[in-house]
Parts: sequence; C-alpha cells; structure tokens
Amino acid sequence: MNSAANPRALAAQALAEIVAGKSLRATFAALSTKLPDTRDRALLSALLHTGARWWLHFDAALAAMLERPLHEREADVQALLVLGLVQIEILHLPEYAAVAATVEAVRALRRPAFAGLVNALLRRWLRERDRINAQLDADAVTRSAHPRWLLDTLAVDWPDMAQSIVAANNVEAPLWLRVNRRRGTREDLSGRLTAAGIVNEAPQALPDALLLAHSADVAHLPGYAEGLFSVQDGAAQFAAPLLDARDGMRVLDACAAPGGKSAHILEHADVELVALDSDPRRLPRLRENLARLGLRADIRAGDAADPKGWWDGRAFDRILLDAPCSASGIIRRQPDIKLHRRAADIDTLVSLQARLADALWPLLKPGGRLVYATCSVFAAENSRRIAAFLAAHADAGSLPVPFEWHAAGSGAQNLPGEGGMDGFFYAILEKYN
Ligand SMILES: C[S@@+](CC[C@H](N)C(=O)[O-])C[C@H]1O[C@@H](n2cnc3c(N)ncnc32)[C@H](O)[C@@H]1O
Repeated sequence: MNSAANPRALAAQALAEIVAGKSLRATFAALSTKLPDTRDRALLSALLHTGARWWLHFDAALAAMLERPLHEREADVQALLVLGLVQIEILHLPEYAAVAATVEAVRALRRPAFAGLVNALLRRWLRERDRINAQLDADAVTRSAHPRWLLDTLAVDWPDMAQSIVAANNVEAPLWLRVNRRRGTREDLSGRLTAAGIVNEAPQALPDALLLAHSADVAHLPGYAEGLFSVQDGAAQFAAPLLDARDGMRVLDACAAPGGKSAHILEHADVELVALDSDPRRLPRLRENLARLGLRADIRAGDAADPKGWWDGRAFDRILLDAPCSASGIIRRQPDIKLHRRAADIDTLVSLQARLADALWPLLKPGGRLVYATCSVFAAENSRRIAAFLAAHADAGSLPVPFEWHAAGSGAQNLPGEGGMDGFFYAILEKYN
C-alpha cells in the first residue's frame, strides 16, 4: 500500500506540511482530487481540520511522552501520532481501531521502523492520559491549543468573552448556504434539500440563508450546478444588505475575490459593479462563481490602495471594503491560522487596512456609503481602526449597524459561534455632502 491510497498517511504528510507553513485549504484542495471516494475525502478533511485545530495540545502530549523528540525529517510520523491522538480524543473513534489504523498508516508512509513506536506511544496515551492531560491543562496554551499571543490579545480585547471565543474556535463550523434570489426562493431550495434528506433550517434574521445540520460535499448538493445557491457564512450575508445598493448605482467591491459578497450584491440589485482584487490568481474563481450564478461584473486586477492603476475616474455610490485581515474570527473554519499567524502580522495588516480605506474614500460620491468589514475579532483591525479613520476624515460619519451584535466603537461585532456564525465586524461609513 502507498500513502496515496491511505487517507491517514496522506493526512499525516499534509498536516506536517501545514504545520511547516502551507495553507490547509490549498493543501486539502490539491489532495482531495487523489481520493475518489467521498468518505475518504471527508475523513481527510476531518483529520486535517482537527489535527491543525488541536496541534498545540497533542503535539505537547507527544513531547510529554517521547524520551527524545523526533527528528525534523520524521515530521510525517509526528503528525501521524498527533492524528492518532486526535482520532481517539476528538473524533472519538473506537480506541484500539484508531491505534491499529495509525500503525497501518505508518507502514503506508513507508516508515515500518516506526510501527513499534507508534503502537507503544498510543497505548501509553490510553493508560496515562489523565495524568498527561492534567499536565497540559496547567498551561492555557496547551489546554486551549491557541498560541500565547492570540490568548493575550483576546484577553485584552474581549476580557469577558475570551474563554467562549476560544471554545468556539475549537468547534467545527456549520455549513451556511445563501440562496440566489435571482434563480429561486429559499423555500424552494429548502424543500429540494429536505427531499434529498438534507436537514436544513431557515434563520429569521437572514432572508437568503439556509443553515445545514451537517457538513456536506457542496458541489453534490441539489441545485449547486444550476447556481441556485452559494456557500457563505451567515455573518458574511449581512454585507450586501448593509451596503444597501439600489438599482442603477455604481458599486465597488474593493477586495472581491472569490466573489461571495460581490455575488450577493448583484443578487440584490441591478448595479454596475466593479469587482477588484489585487491577486490575479484569485480572479478565475470569482469569474467562475459569478458565471455559475448567472451574474455579471466588471472584474479587474488591481491594488485598491493605488486607484490610478485601475480606476476610470467615475465615483462610486457604494464601496464595500472587505479588508484583508487576521481572519481571527474564522479560526473554527481555518484552524491553521493558529499555527501560521504571528502577533507581528497584525500591525502590518492594520497599516494595509488604513491605506486601503484612505485611498478608497476619495472614490466615494458625497452622500455615498462605504461598508468596512473584516472577519477579525481584534479591536486594532476593527473599532480602533474605524475610530482612527473617522478622526482623520472630517467628511466621514458612521451610521448605526442595525442589528444586535456587540457594540464595538462605531461598528458592530459578532463573536465566533454566536448565532451559529463566524466572528465578523462591520462599520457603515457615510460621506457628508
Ligand atoms: C477577505 S478576502 C475577500 C473575500 C471576498 N470579499 C468574498 O466575500 O468572497 C480579502 C481579499 O482582499 C484581497 N486583497 C488584499 N490586498 C488587496 C489590495 N491591496 N487591493 C485589492 N485587494 C486586495 C485579497 O487578495 C483577498 O482576495
């Protein structure tokens, strides 16, 4: 057997690469094509997500059990061991079956010399886990599997909510759909899904949303190919309504790829939409998404912070700045953020967010509206950023965000898991006449 045929071995190699810096999402996308069976793909996804989510916990558990650390070139064995512990403790697979499958996977990795070590360590875990867990629980980093800088930032920004944010970050996110209201109603799609045995719910606060009880292979859901819906978290579905774009308006989505919010704007109103993104590699996905949904936009590659490269001089009625951010509100979906993001990144992101907002503001018509959005929970990227913007722009004011999220300066914040949704921030800025 080789690793390509064994999802656990494949997951171990991939997780080692993710820990070394590769993106989970891109790694999974590339690997899932090697697994034709949907159950194998689901297992690979579960292993990579839970492995990254709990790495800082179970890697420390291994360190507590190994007499000598494994060598760097044995990173795949280390990841396989973490995945063995994850299968036992988080995925709750039958314990001895998980041990046996992990030993089999070490052979699929062509590392039979480690079979004895893998077997012995996992069995030792089963005997000694209470003692080792007590040791891991003594430190917030290993207990919560969050890096220290992230825990410290949450404790400062959300002193009363930090623990619930951490808990929500460690739980798998539900699957949200957004109905393409140009192609059908939510009731019709809900009925088609129910008929296919897919349990779904229609939340009241979000007219286009359906919340699925279980994750699913989206491309195989009824109506996907026909463009009846998109995948989009509930929190992100507030962007288009907050922008309040009306028929005939000229609208800029300044950081548009892969087009989730552009599509929602176009589903709501007949607008002239410029969908801009600085990363040309992300534009084909945006094009595909709009084409599948039957929508059209003027798609451009360009740096939103440098409009002379792409702007034709015609002002916009509405601008959406869905800013590049720490993504600290979507750790439950992208748990590798815990492993990749560094405290120093935040200052760099805040400077970029400032440059983007400052450069886009002159492109907005007087009386126009700019919606600033992030999937971050950090005050530096959200409430403090908007306060600094308002202090620097005498012609800018903020409008209240009309729903019951946490007040965050002039904006509103949802924290991860609240309402079943991601962590998200919105501020609505208006340009005085
Ligand atoms: C949060 S994502 C946007 C998600 C998108 N709005 C959606 O709903 O599907 C941020 C995007 O900003 C883009 N970006 C980063 N820096 C940029 C810049 N200077 N100008 C334009 N786009 C930028 C990134 O390539 C990325 O696609």
